Order: sequence, then C-alpha cells, then structure tokens
Amino acid sequence: MLLGVNVDHVATVREARKDVEPDPFTAAGLAIRGGADGITVHLREDRRHIQDRDLKIIRRNVSLELNLEMAATDEMTKIALKVKPDLVTLVPEKRAELTTEGGLDLNRGKRKIRTAIDAIQKRGIPVSLFINPSVADVEMAGEIGASMIEIHTGLYANAKGTEKAKELQRVKKSVRKGLDIGLHVNAGHGLNITNVQKIAAIREIRGLYIGHSIVARSIYMGMEKAVREMKGLIKKSSR
Ligand code: PXP
Repeated sequence: MLLGVNVDHVATVREARKDVEPDPFTAAGLAIRGGADGITVHLREDRRHIQDRDLKIIRRNVSLELNLEMAATDEMTKIALKVKPDLVTLVPEKRAELTTEGGLDLNRGKRKIRTAIDAIQKRGIPVSLFINPSVADVEMAGEIGASMIEIHTGLYANAKGTEKAKELQRVKKSVRKGLDIGLHVNAGHGLNITNVQKIAAIREIRGLYIGHSIVARSIYMGMEKAVREMKGLIKKSSR
C-alpha cells in the first residue's frame, strides 16, 4: 500500500508570514527520505497554501508520484495539462471551508467533472475522484469515466462509538465495489496514528493520502531539535 504525503500545510505555515520558509518542496524531500511513495499538493483556487511556483518546483524535482488535487475547473485543467502530474484527484472546493469537507457531489457536478476527466485522461494522466464512502457514488464515478477513486475516510475518522464500525463497513463496501467495477481505489482524509490501522488493513486499497497529521507530528518531532539548534547558536555567539 502506497503512502502519498500531502505537504499543503507546510505551505500554510509559510503563507501565514508570506515568507520563504517552511518550503513544501524541502518538506517533500524529507517525506521521501522518510519513505513516502509520492507527494500530494492541492492547488486551491484561492491559493491559500500551495502556490503555482511550488507545484512547478515539486513537479520538476520529484520523480515519485505527484498527485495534484484540484477542483474541476477550466483554469485547473489547463494547469494540470501544463504541469503534467502523475495523477489528478478531483475534489470539491468551497472558499469558506477549512479543508476538503466531503466527497464530490457527482450528481450536481457531473458535467464539469466529466469534461475535466476527458481532457486530462486523453493526455495520459489518470484521474481519481474523491468521493464519499457510498456504493452509489462509486458506481457513478465508474460511469463518469474516472480510472481511480479516493474514498473519503474523514467520516470514519470522526465517527464515535457504534458509528465507527458502521463507517468502517461503508469504507470497506465502497472499496470492494470500486474493485468490482475495475477502478483503482485509494483512501484518505483525517487519517492519523490512532486510526490508520483499520484502514491500512483493507488490503485492496492502492494508496493512502495523508497530510495534516504528518505535518502536525513533524512539528512535535522537530521542535526539540530546532530549539536546541537556536539555543546553541545564541550560546556560542554571546560568549
Ligand atoms: N485526500 C484528499 C482528497 C484531501 O483533500 C486531503 C486534504 O487535503 C487529504 C486526502 C489529506 O487529508 P488530511 O490532511 O486530513 O490527512
């Protein structure tokens, strides 16, 4: 099972200062050293974290799978065809949301999604649809012509009590349906070190796409070292 690491929130920290650090490309390199099988970036229409320049630099320098998450718009389709990621994942995008809040509404967005899929897959780039864990949505994703799907695991991640097992069953059923109709099936959103195990145990899943938790933990794991480095410099320079 592959691990695609989403480095958007490294850019979120940088954009808080409009500075040059932390740099998502540097973080991508470290993620690869840690064993990532690919890098994901979400180029949002409002460019709140990843910038066009980040995408270009990462594309040019990362030889592992580059997964570009984007909305199914003409602007983004043009960018995808120019940058040529290894995979495009179409996601719903609302300006006011904090993160991708749910899977695509395939009924409402069918025409735009189909147009984006046709244009991108014609150029040899597979398109994955980020969808809710629903058998009906999986079937529709196949009908629309996507070659891959990513099952939204956020509902499972957030579920409490008896709902947790039910959500897990929904994910499992959706994964199996996807395979039955010949799709490659990924999963992601909201996964962390306490909930990834049961999803990773669904062996038919091709890859997991994880961002926030890895970026959050990298802050904890690196804080001690970063402070020690700064303290050392201050000590040495103030002697
Ligand atoms: N998959 C998709 C389609 C997403 O939009 C995101 C968030 O950008 C992720 C996976 C990663 O989610 P998280 O940051 O919660 O790990």
